[in-house]
Amino acid sequence: MKYRSIAVDGPSGAGKSTMARMVARALGFLYVDTGAIYRTLALFALREGAAPADAQAVAGLLPRAGIRMGYGEDGGQRMYLNGEDVTEAIRTPEVSAAASQVSAHPQVRAFLLDMQRDLAKTGNVIMDGRDIGTVVLPDADVKIFLTASAEDRARRRLAELLERGEQIRFDTVLSDITERDRRDSTRSAAPLRQAEDALLVDTTDKSLEESFALLLQTIQEKLA
Ligand code: DC
Repeated sequence: MKYRSIAVDGPSGAGKSTMARMVARALGFLYVDTGAIYRTLALFALREGAAPADAQAVAGLLPRAGIRMGYGEDGGQRMYLNGEDVTEAIRTPEVSAAASQVSAHPQVRAFLLDMQRDLAKTGNVIMDGRDIGTVVLPDADVKIFLTASAEDRARRRLAELLERGEQIRFDTVLSDITERDRRDSTRSAAPLRQAEDALLVDTTDKSLEESFALLLQTIQEKLA
């Protein structure tokens, strides 16, 4: 049986994970957050004292990086690093920056590719990331490129971080986002870009409800 797949790519903070999770629930698809996989490796690098930008140092860690994905009782995705649940630990700004760096190394991407493709063979999936439509699932039934202005994305990310109790300023969040955009889209290995056959969904100035309605409608029309 061939399962259906939806690829959602786009820059940091465009609301990919929140909305892909909502679409998964609405359609009964499995949700896979691929950024969490890169984050788990980044956390391992930080803990092992390897510079995330150092390709060789990070590649040297791969044989010992036991990365596994599972689902919790609430249906939420959980990440495990050598058996330890690191789902919350991978959500810090330090890990975000390190994930963007480790994900630039071709060896890292090759190492994590099969894991992501295998997840799409287990059922109908909606997978979000940066290169899902271009590299991981080039034959996806629906490809979405989800974006919003950098300022809008920074505002949303700031609200999330403040809610989690992080002390951080808007300027810092905006410059982090701009820097990640630059790195994610200029790296030579699988850079962030809109696949030719991807549908563009821009959520600038839209509420979560409006954005979700637009996304779901775009997906349903394409799946029909
Ligand atoms: O989506 P996120 O912010 O959790 O992703 C963390 C980093 O991982 C991001 O800076 C880019 C990288 N990433 C990637 O290169 N390819 C993916 N498919 C997903 C994430």
